[in-house]
Amino acid sequence: MSASSRTPLLKRIAERVVGPDFAKVIWKRIEIIGDVAIIRKSFDVPTEVYKSIGEEILREIPYVKSVWLAASPVQGFERVREYIHLAGERKSETIYREHGCMFKVDFTKVYISPVLGFDHIRIARIARNGEKILNMFAGFGPYSIIVSKYAKPVYVVSIDLNEFAVHYARINIEINRVEAYNDIIHGDALTITSSLNEKFDRILLPYPDAFKDAFKVALDAVKIGGYLHPHLFVEAPNKREALHKAYETVSTYAQSLGAVVEPLGGHVIRGVAPRKYHVTVDVVVKSKTKNVL
Ligand SMILES: C[S@@+](CC[C@H](N)C(=O)[O-])C[C@H]1O[C@@H](n2cnc3c(N)ncnc32)[C@H](O)[C@@H]1O
Repeated sequence: MSASSRTPLLKRIAERVVGPDFAKVIWKRIEIIGDVAIIRKSFDVPTEVYKSIGEEILREIPYVKSVWLAASPVQGFERVREYIHLAGERKSETIYREHGCMFKVDFTKVYISPVLGFDHIRIARIARNGEKILNMFAGFGPYSIIVSKYAKPVYVVSIDLNEFAVHYARINIEINRVEAYNDIIHGDALTITSSLNEKFDRILLPYPDAFKDAFKVALDAVKIGGYLHPHLFVEAPNKREALHKAYETVSTYAQSLGAVVEPLGGHVIRGVAPRKYHVTVDVVVKSKTKNVL
């Protein structure tokens, strides 16, 4: 492999199109969602610079029809970014494929991150046939749909506060033909969960910003012997320590709520800042006081 072919594609394109100075400071990753390419804006590089990079991406990656610049961090409870159209068709709705499932999404309206793909299938493989599953922060439906395909649950209840996420989750449940055992609720999982009056075998909590509030609610709604999959942020010097600290944090927090949980597994989803990680852990609920809430 030559030195140049080892250089990330985006950097090679930037060196060619806008010169080495800009190439040095741009983000190196191109995120592909269906037939759309997304690149992230570096704070100190003007938007105009990215326009010609966008045109070049269209030429270099033939199946890409549209290129967008992610111009802000994820924000709001919906966890979406601000986007600027750079090149190609001006469309933000696309078909994203993951683990044999198809998802229609508009990435400007709903949270989407291919980095979660590994966790989607990991959960689907852990889940057992015949479970009642709750997904408190379902987004456009990837956990719920992939687990439905792989694990044959009795049913999956998905909740999301973002109306667009609910809109796409409904479409995706039909596209993937799992509507017979999937229910979607638009609203606040922190209040809706307890009003369901149901005890679940497994609850997914894929929203690290809401870890504490969501965990408390989920602990109340899970069966003894059931499983919780909280996501949380932890500060640690490295990934191994981060996972260890996440186990500790979840166990200690459960204890403070009168419950005993046993860690089973988990993994670091990504680094979000120096010494800060987004982690998910799997725990089984061994005991809890009657009312956690
Ligand atoms: C990190 S995203 C979920 C990602 C999704 N599960 C996936 O795998 O792509 C967090 C989601 O939680 C939703 N959300 C935020 N606060 C909420 C709440 N209180 N109740 C229900 N959903 C909420 C957001 O709209 C967003 O879709």
